[in-house]
Amino acid sequence: MNEILSAIRARRSVRAYESKKVPKENINSIIEAGNNAPSGMNSQPWRFVVVEDNALHKKMIEAATPNAKTLLTPLKTSNPERYEQIMKRYEELQDPIYYSAPAIIFVIGRGPYADLSCPLACENMMLAAYSLGLGSCWVQFGSLIKDNEEIREALELKEDEKIFGPIIVGYPQGVTEPPEKKPPAIKWI
Ligand SMILES: Cc1cc2nc3c(=O)[nH]c(=O)nc-3n(C[C@H](O)[C@H](O)[C@H](O)COP(=O)(O)O)c2cc1C
Repeated sequence: MNEILSAIRARRSVRAYESKKVPKENINSIIEAGNNAPSGMNSQPWRFVVVEDNALHKKMIEAATPNAKTLLTPLKTSNPERYEQIMKRYEELQDPIYYSAPAIIFVIGRGPYADLSCPLACENMMLAAYSLGLGSCWVQFGSLIKDNEEIREALELKEDEKIFGPIIVGYPQGVTEPPEKKPPAIKWI
């Protein structure tokens, strides 16, 4: 199998990280990979904000956690077992949102092509991280910080901008077992 196919197959969402900082050149390579993603009309409708600051990271956990818990509430009735499992993780982990990753990369999009194009940048970034021996994860719950003015200001988030990801990056702690993947549904005509 060639390297791209094997990276696509082996990449995992990593939820436990070493505290070791990721070298700046690696973060830049990951962003460069995101920036090389295809985009509608070549609009490149994204910008990137890297958060490594511990104090801001902590504020983001505090802002996102109650919003994440609210979003998870319907699970309480639809899948109580899963809900309990997740709530346990919220109690046990110091950072159940960004998993204590040393770098959090916000992909911030704007304009008509952002919705379809920015996720492509995100996947490129996660594959690039894998290729550099780093773990990553798209943590949508980590985007639930928009009601916090101080964080909005730090990200310079405008009204017409939308957050994709964020993509957390760091050195994986332990090995992440692959989740079950369904075989692809394919129809040949
Ligand atoms: C749009 C999107 C949002 C996600 N948000 C979260 C999240 O908030 N927290 C989390 O732990 N994982 C999140 N994930 C990771 C998924 O749970 C993960 O991709 C899935 O379980 C499959 O595992 P794999 O990435 O290792 O193949 C998200 C993934 C995507 C694509």
